Amino acid sequence: MHKDLDRLISDMTLHEKVALCTGENSWKTKAFKHLGIPSILMSDGSSGVRFQKDSEITRSQSFYESISSRFDSEEAISNTHKATCFPSASTVACSWNKELIYEIGQAIAKECRRLGIHLLLGPGMNIRRHPLTARNFEYYSEDPYLTGDMAAAMVMGVQSQGVGTSLKHFACHNSDTKRTLVDAIVEERALREIYLAAFERVVNQAKPTTVMSAYNKINGVQASEDPLLLNQILREEWGFAGAVISDWGAVKNVVEATLAGLDLQMPLSLSSSRFLEEAVQKGDIAEEWLNRRVKHILQLVFSLTEKAEPKAEFDFVQHHRIAQRAAEESIVLLKNGRQLLPLSTEKIKKIAVVGKLAVEPLYQGTGCAVVNAQLVDIPLDSIRSLCQGTIEVAYAPGYNSDGSTNQALLQEAGLLARDADVVLIFAGAFMPEESDDYNRKDMNIESGHEQLIETVCAVNRNSILILANGESVSMPWTDMASVVLETWFGGEGMGAALANILFGLVNPSGKLSATIPEKLNNTPAYLSFPGNEKDLYYSEGIYVGYRYYDKKEIAPRFPFGHGLSYTQFTYSNLTVSSSSVKLPETLKVTVDITNTGDVYGKEIIQLYLSQPKSKLPRPVQELKGFAKVALHSGETKTVEFVLEERDFSYYNPEFGKWVADTAEFIVRIGASSRDIRLTKAVQVENSRKYVSKIRTDSGFTELLENATAKPIFYQFLIENGLINQEQANENLDELLKWSFWGIQTFMDMNSGGTITYEKLEEVVTRINDALEKAQ
Ligand code: BGC
Repeated sequence: MHKDLDRLISDMTLHEKVALCTGENSWKTKAFKHLGIPSILMSDGSSGVRFQKDSEITRSQSFYESISSRFDSEEAISNTHKATCFPSASTVACSWNKELIYEIGQAIAKECRRLGIHLLLGPGMNIRRHPLTARNFEYYSEDPYLTGDMAAAMVMGVQSQGVGTSLKHFACHNSDTKRTLVDAIVEERALREIYLAAFERVVNQAKPTTVMSAYNKINGVQASEDPLLLNQILREEWGFAGAVISDWGAVKNVVEATLAGLDLQMPLSLSSSRFLEEAVQKGDIAEEWLNRRVKHILQLVFSLTEKAEPKAEFDFVQHHRIAQRAAEESIVLLKNGRQLLPLSTEKIKKIAVVGKLAVEPLYQGTGCAVVNAQLVDIPLDSIRSLCQGTIEVAYAPGYNSDGSTNQALLQEAGLLARDADVVLIFAGAFMPEESDDYNRKDMNIESGHEQLIETVCAVNRNSILILANGESVSMPWTDMASVVLETWFGGEGMGAALANILFGLVNPSGKLSATIPEKLNNTPAYLSFPGNEKDLYYSEGIYVGYRYYDKKEIAPRFPFGHGLSYTQFTYSNLTVSSSSVKLPETLKVTVDITNTGDVYGKEIIQLYLSQPKSKLPRPVQELKGFAKVALHSGETKTVEFVLEERDFSYYNPEFGKWVADTAEFIVRIGASSRDIRLTKAVQVENSRKYVSKIRTDSGFTELLENATAKPIFYQFLIENGLINQEQANENLDELLKWSFWGIQTFMDMNSGGTITYEKLEEVVTRINDALEKAQ
């Protein structure tokens, strides 16, 4: 690290400083050779490197050229370096496997280093609030605990290779339609417990290099210009020591952004640099604020360039294998009717494969997350190669590449299916075009695919449905097919992974990282999404995902945490280290898992906590731990979890703190959120006192039941001649408590003007100071 940054900053001119605060172009920071400041290069994304070939070159474009460039057109993709396309975040989260995600992070970082990239613009980690949000496939889960752990593993993996990361999009980027205009209107508790909690977990666990501030507003304030979000919560409360980078074009007022704690504004913005320079010259903003930004950027630049070792060597074949393994762990077997899977090469003579996605696989999303995959497994080829010489595999497309179909295509597929022992149906949901109106229109798969499913399932009951989609789809046809497998956006290795699972070479072990609802109008945010497309009211509050379905007792199509295996697991011997916990003590929980089936497999064990009686309403249960264990047939392993004070707590806006009640909690161990196998009650005691502040409009009950506040207030009444010493007794308590008016109104009506607003303010401040001290 450069020794004396303050000195370096004092050597820079104002013009140089503002120039450092924005990009040199879209993908790199500005270098200053005479000052010894190098530049850093950055690139998307979370499931593989998307690096445009001309990223290092800064060239002037005409207005027309500039507005015609896109990320994911065929031309743009071919102008992007080849890279390994790993499963999308929404997919890989179904592996619930931190080590695997760490390994993917390492591999992505090596590919970054080969290309000279210092900073990866990922992971994306917004909460999947609503299934129609287009970019949900870039995000892990509907749950902050799972999201936080997955993203932390990715950050640690990438950073272990000396490449930086950027947690995005901070925060509440939950709509892609009008994404730079929307205002996420979220109550404080939901913001803290759901939307910020995941980021907080990663900041604590993994020390990310940067955080990317989102496009949208939160409660009326632009996220990239929000001092509460950036200065107060991110830096002061969570201790984040890295740099804040704006999403591309997210800053609207650079002075506000500077004051709020934003550091690097991306991409190059000449207008804002000029505006900021003039603002400093005019004295509208102190240069100190700019210096703070410059210091964070310099720390970032020096730390990433000093760590950069010679360009990494790696083997694309090996990375392709990681991508395959990741898909194998993430594919979710939703339904396995009549135990049709795994397919037996002895019993089956003929397989029909229908659906063009078998030869043109849908394995990734669009937009800035798109990867120019180096080698894509074609599912039909992978299936054929496992069937060689033993099973006949016939193929019919069933629909066109654009998803449409016609009678001839359907008939051909139907005939093929009728003659086969088993039929594999490939279907999925394409991403909408990235444009202003970008969210998905509905939760349906392509209509031609749906028609194919209906045609084929009607003629062959041994139908195996293989789905590809980045986020949940409605599945009205689940009853028609015997088997339903979700491959999601499984990355370039999905084809081989799928074939291995179909034939039992690999036992499926993925579980859902988000609920699959029965239908769209059952979803938590259905009534408020997308609203008027500008004001997004998060009216479901903390009840996001399974928290909502549990509370409303709505049966989802497939619950959070669900996924089947070819073997069975039994759960036994749930123990807790103590039946009563005195916080901040921790609680150790152990449970035994046995593979009671015939084949090797992996099980994801989930720990949920529930608090049946609480001061503020709480979800029925919340995920507070998980583990993925591999077990041979007959083998037993003990899994251990440790619960900390924070796990028992919820955010109480009245105190502005995470608070745990003294109460009974139930530890629930399950194979999914709706398949709880073992429970144990624990008594939790919290001796910490939380005191609410008194306001001028507080009620008398609040005031007089507080042992610190009451004597101060009565002394105040005495000093002002409203009562005498003797009258300060229980009788007076009762008279005052009767009032349904707040203190201020009551004193105004009854003190004949003696208690002015100023006097009341003064005594309330005195009371609150005393309360603070007594805590
Ligand atoms: C996206 C970011 C991305 C950036 C650079 C923005 O439009 O929201 O996720 O990292 O572009 O491509």
